[in-house]
Amino acid sequence: MASIDLRSVSKIYPNGAHGVRDVSLEIENGEFVIFLGPSGCGKSTTLRMIAGLESISSGDVMIGERNMNRVAPRDRNVAVVFQSYALYPHMSVRANMGFGLKMRGASTQEIAAKTETAAGMLGLTHLLDRKPSALSGGQRQRVALGRAIVREPDVFLLDEPLSNLDAQLRAEMRLELVKLHRRLGRTTIHVTHDQVEAMTMGDRICIMRDGQLIQAGRPLDVYADPVNMFVARFLASPAMNLLPITLHDNNDNLTLDGGDGLRFTVPDRHRAAYASKAGANVILGLRPEDIYEQPRGGTQPFQLRVAAVEALGAEIIVVGTVGGDGEKPLEVTARLGRHAQVSVGEAVTLHADLLPAHLFDPLTEAVIPRPSVRGPA
Ligand SMILES: Nc1ncnc2c1ncn2[C@@H]1O[C@H](COP(=O)(O)OP(=O)(O)OP(=O)(O)O)[C@@H](O)[C@H]1O
Ligand SMILES: [Mg+2]
Repeated sequence: MASIDLRSVSKIYPNGAHGVRDVSLEIENGEFVIFLGPSGCGKSTTLRMIAGLESISSGDVMIGERNMNRVAPRDRNVAVVFQSYALYPHMSVRANMGFGLKMRGASTQEIAAKTETAAGMLGLTHLLDRKPSALSGGQRQRVALGRAIVREPDVFLLDEPLSNLDAQLRAEMRLELVKLHRRLGRTTIHVTHDQVEAMTMGDRICIMRDGQLIQAGRPLDVYADPVNMFVARFLASPAMNLLPITLHDNNDNLTLDGGDGLRFTVPDRHRAAYASKAGANVILGLRPEDIYEQPRGGTQPFQLRVAAVEALGAEIIVVGTVGGDGEKPLEVTARLGRHAQVSVGEAVTLHADLLPAHLFDPLTEAVIPRPSVRGPA
């Protein structure tokens, strides 16, 4: 059992590339944490430094109160599962899974018992005598996980372990991993590119960019209250609409003016927070699912010229243009119910809920703070 504490950890590669910049993060014992971010943002580098596979340029990596900066990987009791789950091709599943224990001098009985238990957990019992070449991708993936499990590490570091799997296997393995974590209770960091994995698997999600940790928090908190436009754009697909508008003071009201028919009133609950920005150009961040076909409590209407309709079965994604100054209309994406009646080329009236929306500073891209509208979860 172990917590992880990264203290101002940086990695500068010999060629001068900044892999990771000044990342500080405390992970509790038993926590399941997701790392999410674009390619090259430093996710693997961070994992490799925790595992001891990469030296640390500055800062400290603590695992369970112990400074690991100069501790060899094999002495950290950390197991890493990579995207490319290199199994030994000439060894059976059983031998692959037990290999780590064997190298550590465990007894034959101990190896057999732990391998059987892990195989049972992962549904591999009937495959123990096969060679990796006779397994499907998902089965190989599970063997790689099994190999990590039998070592009984304090920490699991999973670097995109599901990315080679097809959609269905991926969904199954996602659930398996979550169950496994519940069962073993080990501190886990899981790197992914997948929105669903990021939102559903972990206790916390850590969003990285250019080697920096941008935001860490419970998935739904980060989703509801992103700290900047990068997080707002990155988390969720289709992404949050980011619309350049002007905030006007209109007697008692604050209005959001996108020109040419796009005009909203700031909800009462947010007026105080935004009052000082009256007159400023800001970016309105509106999630596609906060736009509805029919009005409901507190929604405000606007006109959308429909440019594309994607019927996904469970919902309909509508992309259209709105407002702007005529020359450069704003593009808006809405997620409507599956029964919504919209066709390409027509103008429809849709209804936006501005309460969960955010305003961002167009220069710094930082969110303009307001009290959260999310209740305690
Ligand atoms: N061995 C290396 N030498 C030099 N630069 C490296 C090395 N490994 C990684 N980098 C650089 O460090 C940065 C972070 O890389 P890293 O592999 O940690 O990204 P990542 O977030 O895991 O990306 P991906 O999602 O593509 O796996 C990148 O800019 C990368 O080019
Ligand atoms: Mg990587």
